[in-house]
Amino acid sequence: MSRAFLKVSPTSTQTILITGCTSGIGRALIKEYAAMGHNVIGCGRRVDRLEKLKEELSNYSGRHIFLPCDTSDYESVLQFRDRLYEKNVDIDVLIANAGISLRPKALWEISNCDFDRIVQTNLNGVFYTFRAFVPTMIEMSCRPGSRKFKHNSYPAGWPITNKSPLTNITIYYF
Ligand SMILES: NC(=O)c1ccc[n+]([C@@H]2O[C@H](COP(=O)([O-])OP(=O)(O)OC[C@H]3O[C@@H](n4cnc5c(N)ncnc54)[C@H](OP(=O)(O)O)[C@@H]3O)[C@@H](O)[C@H]2O)c1
Repeated sequence: MSRAFLKVSPTSTQTILITGCTSGIGRALIKEYAAMGHNVIGCGRRVDRLEKLKEELSNYSGRHIFLPCDTSDYESVLQFRDRLYEKNVDIDVLIANAGISLRPKALWEISNCDFDRIVQTNLNGVFYTFRAFVPTMIEMSCRPGSRKFKHNSYPAGWPITNKSPLTNITIYYF
């Protein structure tokens, strides 16, 4: 994985939320960011894998939180968010990574039902995640003395921080 992509702040410890951390890219990112000294928060539907990740990171410094959440279900995302905010978490970076792929099937070989599931997770789920978390991230970043840093260019993901009030937060989606 590109180090440039992983670099979220040159100087300070960040709190990074990554959805879909029980396998693949999300899991790799969580481990890398924790090893770099950042606080990491992750979710997924497979609780046993979340527990395993918690165990694996127990020797790293920082505050790491793993909670179950189904990002294709808005109520589940809201519950996840509320549980985090009850713990006074202040998120600096949001990576909406949770998603499914039915590859190696060709697009036209996917059933309507499976395609609906993909859209519900990869599209609606990202929207639910943004809707649940971004307003508070903006609010926190606008506070006087906010420690959040400015970050304006990305080798991956879609920067929506430019030319908007979101100048102090970082959001990626895949
Ligand atoms: N790998 C690639 O080449 C590639 C290319 C383009 C885009 N992407 C996108 O990048 C993301 C990660 O890909 P990957 O290859 O790392 O996939 P992966 O290994 O299958 O991991 C997907 C992760 O998303 C989680 N997830 C799926 N549905 C979820 C839901 N409804 N709620 C919460 N978590 C959910 C899974 O956790 P649970 O099953 O535990 O819920 C898992 O942790 C996906 O969005 C994928 O579409 C990947």
